[in-house]
Amino acid sequence: PQARLTLDPHFTVAPVSRRVFGSFVEHLGRAVYDGIYEPGHRTANEDGFRRDVIELVRELGVSTIRYPGGNFVSGYRWEDGVGPRESRPRRLDLAWHSTETNEVGLDEFARWIKEVDGELMYAVNLGTRGVQEALDVLEYANIPSGTALSDQRIANGSPEPHAIRMWCLGNEMDGPWQLGHGTAEEYARLAAKTARAMRQLDPTLELVVCGSSGAGMPTFGDWERTVLEETYDDVDFISCHAYYEPHDGDMASFLASAVSMDRFIDSVVASADHVKAVRRSDKTMYLSFDEWNVWYQSVYNDVEKITDASEWPQAPRLLENAYSAMDAVVVGSLLISLLRHADRVTAASLAQLVNVIAPITTEPQGPAWRQTTFYPFAITSRLARGTVLDPKIDSPAMVTDAYGDVPMVDAVATHDDAAGTAAVFLVNRSLTDTVTVSIDAGPLGVESVRSAQTLHDDDYSAGNTLQDQDRVVPEPNKSARIENGTVTVTLPPVSWTALELQ
Ligand code: AHR
Repeated sequence: PQARLTLDPHFTVAPVSRRVFGSFVEHLGRAVYDGIYEPGHRTANEDGFRRDVIELVRELGVSTIRYPGGNFVSGYRWEDGVGPRESRPRRLDLAWHSTETNEVGLDEFARWIKEVDGELMYAVNLGTRGVQEALDVLEYANIPSGTALSDQRIANGSPEPHAIRMWCLGNEMDGPWQLGHGTAEEYARLAAKTARAMRQLDPTLELVVCGSSGAGMPTFGDWERTVLEETYDDVDFISCHAYYEPHDGDMASFLASAVSMDRFIDSVVASADHVKAVRRSDKTMYLSFDEWNVWYQSVYNDVEKITDASEWPQAPRLLENAYSAMDAVVVGSLLISLLRHADRVTAASLAQLVNVIAPITTEPQGPAWRQTTFYPFAITSRLARGTVLDPKIDSPAMVTDAYGDVPMVDAVATHDDAAGTAAVFLVNRSLTDTVTVSIDAGPLGVESVRSAQTLHDDDYSAGNTLQDQDRVVPEPNKSARIENGTVTVTLPPVSWTALELQ
């Protein structure tokens, strides 16, 4: 089959927001302990953080990193994690049925994030706590000096404020599993009060209110409306969370997961714009898609197995999803969906970063390596520059049980006018067919294909393991060529491709 893409510099969506390449580190399983932090590791720095992991996180090209949860944050006391390590309390983490040692807290994480050139996005606990604790952690983190909590931070070894701009008002408060979960009205009031209080301290903060933890939640839609009716003037973002996995072996629908993401985003935009219209507001609400990934929840949700009241393991192996070549193709396609919505989705976090449903895996005292999903993220983050362009796509269709007919080929492009470069990200979702794509890129004024990389494996279930860390890596796509402004490239079935043009 053949597909055709038309690109034009006028097909603009919005500027590429670097924050779309965010990620997420939760105190969960081995994300922090034995993940980013392992004081006894041969590469550990003076703070106990693994340098090999720092290198990989830098290579991944992440921007904003959400911390410290996740479900964890809804029972977290931030002050447990600051001050002298030897006097930090050990606590029960009810969300993940684990013991939290508090060896790593806000000050350490803020130091780590500097090492990876990231921006800290901090979530406050609105599960078991409220306005005062949110104000306290804000004062501790952001006030330069001269108050009880800012001076405490300085005494704890962080003379400079952490200057955190983005704050999440709780996590997944629509989920019955969440500590402190209540109705939309209850959460909306608490979020509004907390947002106003935080902005009384600093009106320039960027605040994220909790949307739904998935489009399949029974309260989806109503939750967004209720929460935004109460908080519209006091927040900047509403969150979206979504995880994708194959159901009943239906790989065609799984490969088309971006259709579901597109619809989810469009629905949340509709809910937000409804509230905007009713309020006759000039303000546009943005979306923070601050948890997204492939996650085989039916396989990797091991916390359900720890139920004994006397069993509270420390940094257990939880949610350590091993990723396949197909999963990487889906992750690449989800990034295409996020970029296509760059006018409204201006922040996003791949959930998560290390060990827990993550692009990076570590072994204690051992290596750190790239999962298959590392590559589409790293390459998109590196190449997406300038303005997002929505190409006109003419593709053969494929049939899916979940979404009906969907285009086999999906794509998005970015264009850096000043640099004279462009990037095209493409996915072939067919399980069987190779597709040749011709891309009319003439109006962009590009003349050469600087690079073409394709992620594909004849065995789409293959992944990168401790024993075979580079089994699935992107390869140069030798079919890519350009003639008179028209690029042609051949996409194997179940593949993700990035083209760099200049
Ligand atoms: O990312 C894993 C978990 O998924 C998070 O803690 C929670 O917010 C979501 O349900």
